[in-house]
Amino acid sequence: MAAAFLAASYGAAAPFNHSGWSGRNKAWNWNLHRGFKSSRNFKWWCQCVSSKSNYGYGGKPAEEVSVMVTGSTGYIGRFVVKELLNRGYKVVAVARQGSNANPSVEEEKSSSGSLECVTGDVTNKESLEKSLTSQGIGKIDVVVCCLASRSGGVADSWNIDYQASRNSFDVGLELGASHLVLLSAICVQKPLLHFQRAKLKLEAEIQGLPSNPTWSIVRPTAFFKSLAGQVDIVKAGGPFVVFGDGRLCSCKPISESDLASFICDCISDESKHQKLLPIGGPGRAYTPLEQGDLLFEITGKSRRFVKVPIQIMDFAIGLLDSVAGFFPDNAGIQDAAEYAKIGRYYAAESMLVLDPDTGCYDADATPSYGTDTLEAFFQRVVMEGMAGQELGEQVPSFLRSDS
Ligand SMILES: NC(=O)c1ccc[n+]([C@@H]2O[C@H](COP(=O)([O-])OP(=O)(O)OC[C@H]3O[C@@H](n4cnc5c(N)ncnc54)[C@H](OP(=O)(O)O)[C@@H]3O)[C@@H](O)[C@H]2O)c1
Repeated sequence: MAAAFLAASYGAAAPFNHSGWSGRNKAWNWNLHRGFKSSRNFKWWCQCVSSKSNYGYGGKPAEEVSVMVTGSTGYIGRFVVKELLNRGYKVVAVARQGSNANPSVEEEKSSSGSLECVTGDVTNKESLEKSLTSQGIGKIDVVVCCLASRSGGVADSWNIDYQASRNSFDVGLELGASHLVLLSAICVQKPLLHFQRAKLKLEAEIQGLPSNPTWSIVRPTAFFKSLAGQVDIVKAGGPFVVFGDGRLCSCKPISESDLASFICDCISDESKHQKLLPIGGPGRAYTPLEQGDLLFEITGKSRRFVKVPIQIMDFAIGLLDSVAGFFPDNAGIQDAAEYAKIGRYYAAESMLVLDPDTGCYDADATPSYGTDTLEAFFQRVVMEGMAGQELGEQVPSFLRSDS
């Protein structure tokens, strides 16, 4: 039931102004400035600004463009590597020691691109740079960062969603990168959670960069995998759990391969540069109630919902927050309170563009991309199971449907 509760609450949302951005930008700019002055980057930068395109690799064929992907072993990162290889890029996939990767090595054989796998520590900038250069990687054109905290815990969020992601970009810039792509999330529009604030901090720093390097910040809605947590329960004749009346929130889910394709477009499509890019999948938005209905229809099981009052989550958060208040230095307790807030957030906040004037989520204003539908995805998962759809980030392990 815990799994169903989480699955019920797990979905996706968009930007509020986050205070204190300007101060942070200064540190980033200072670093960049120092990087340019002290390295071959300065020469490279001069070439970039004098070239026809405002990004350094513009006009070069894909096989001459080197793209570093961090978070290459994640749910989206793996598909990004695969898509880049299909498009013919020179891919440098960074994975940490012991990561159960690289699934993309096989992909290289059937693609026109080339793949270099580098084991490195993204949490340590110097060590990451050393790992790359010691493997002969002396030049990067584009950095795509798909890193994310796997737990959503407080310290891990700041360590990965902010610091390690920034390290990726810093090291890429040291190696000459002229375009940065960040996989963020639409839910940063309303930042109530640590991982969202960490992502926003990095987003703000990227937006504060000078016009070279260029950047694209991708803010997707919910991933298909995030909506699949109750498939097995419904398949087995169980109920579909929703919060409130099942219409508290809504999302326009996107498949991993459509999102990967959108991310890769950000490299070659100049109209996606210097932009915050909220993005959803094709078709309409779904409330949890409608997701349940779709599943009942596909499985042929009788329609049965369990409607859980959202106040239960508020009570749990209140309790955990009070305990956390007594133990400010206990990371485990702080994380437990954060996990409850993550669950509450996804149970009630839509993963759609947020209209800053009305404060309402707007499905029509949320752009659509791709061809994969939620219906086809549910059909596949009902038939074939969740292979390749393992839940990763921001999901406490004890609540995963695969645990
Ligand atoms: N789920 C959704 O519905 C949704 C919706 C919108 C946006 N998003 C955002 O999309 C992004 C990517 O999500 P995802 O599902 O692809 O993430 P994921 O599957 O959890 O992958 C996370 C990646 O980060 C790496 N990583 C995590 N901690 C690390 C560490 N300490 N050291 C080195 N590498 C580390 C992982 O490496 P290992 O494989 O070695 O662990 C993995 O490659 C996240 O920022 C998320 O917020 C998610």
